[in-house]
Amino acid sequence: MTDTPNPPRLATQLVRGGLSRSQHKETAEAIYMTSGFVYDSAAEADARFAGTSPGYLYGRYANPTVRVFEERMMALEGAEECLAVSSGMAAVQAAVMANLKAGDRVLGARAMFSSCLWILDTLLPRFGVDVELVDGGDLDAWRAAAARGVTLALIETPANPVLSGVDIAAVADIVHAAGGKLIVDNAFASPVLQKPFTMGADLVVYSATKHIDGQGRTLGGVVLGAKDLIDANIREFLRHTGPALSPFNAWTLAKGLETIVLRVEKQSETAARLAERFAGHAKLKRLLYPHHKDHPDRALHLKQMRMGGTLIALDVQGGRAEAWRFLDALQLIDISNNLGDAKTLATHPETTTHRRLSEDARARIGVAGSTIRISVGLEDPEDLAADIAQALDAV
Ligand SMILES: Cc1ncc(COP(=O)(O)O)c(C=O)c1O
Repeated sequence: MTDTPNPPRLATQLVRGGLSRSQHKETAEAIYMTSGFVYDSAAEADARFAGTSPGYLYGRYANPTVRVFEERMMALEGAEECLAVSSGMAAVQAAVMANLKAGDRVLGARAMFSSCLWILDTLLPRFGVDVELVDGGDLDAWRAAAARGVTLALIETPANPVLSGVDIAAVADIVHAAGGKLIVDNAFASPVLQKPFTMGADLVVYSATKHIDGQGRTLGGVVLGAKDLIDANIREFLRHTGPALSPFNAWTLAKGLETIVLRVEKQSETAARLAERFAGHAKLKRLLYPHHKDHPDRALHLKQMRMGGTLIALDVQGGRAEAWRFLDALQLIDISNNLGDAKTLATHPETTTHRRLSEDARARIGVAGSTIRISVGLEDPEDLAADIAQALDAV
């Protein structure tokens, strides 16, 4: 046996990180379900607010159960600091808005989750921020856009929903050379499979609702980065705007992290097996899986992701009617717009997650009426294969 290093190895930190037992010595983490904290004296309250005495002040700023979750996320991501919030969108909003003022310029990859796109193309311009969208995979387009100025850039890779890739290291270099900062939304890859900080990201954001919970129970989000960057703007932004994570939800997410590596690896193995089984099926126009040989961005995904991930995109022969026929024929797999769950879920992006986009905008990022996204869960792979096969028969 080798000694336990300090800090311990990752698997140990994901189960024990941040644990501080109460006087009752409970096994599982206690849930500090409290909005406020009390002080022994007026002078103690003064010292806490002055920051000269350590301790908690108020649930909107920080909470011991939320901190357990944040510390486990820091260990998993290899980040100096983490702040947890009530949803993935609260995390994206904070990472973006806290670092901008009127006159700044934001670049974004065109293929991203549509609420993230709404922040860029609808919200920011109202406040005098110039926004330019580029094709995420086109490095010349990034260079040209950055030459016009960049304060922040936001990318998602693999991107929702057809799993296109963005070269994180190359975009980080371009953005840094122009004086900007890069935010990576790593929700689809999960913190288990892709490490954006090792490729130059300045901030990483997650919808913890996805693989981090992984069992369809709660919304949540996190922003991770260097301590000075989080302290510069994001901590204050969150403290004063208020999207605090409930201690109960933080507890649920911290427990999710105890099993995230096992879940994501198993789900990715099953997804790879299903992709292999159904690629080239007569009822499919195409099947896209990040590490499958047919994916146009395979080389990039192989470089950036340790496994191919839990998501598969496919286009059935025909259009929306045929896609709906496939979805309605599923017997085991559920129709849902969530992802990263232990239950396998199928989505029709055109009419759900991406319905806000024009047909042209959808076409540019590869979403058609025939497109279906499958988030692969923890069921037996053979049961999932049988369900997909019989649903394809119905197309
Ligand atoms: C890539 C991506 N970013 C952000 C979000 C927003 O997360 P949430 O629903 O937790 O607010 C989602 C999902 O909804 C997503 O898929």
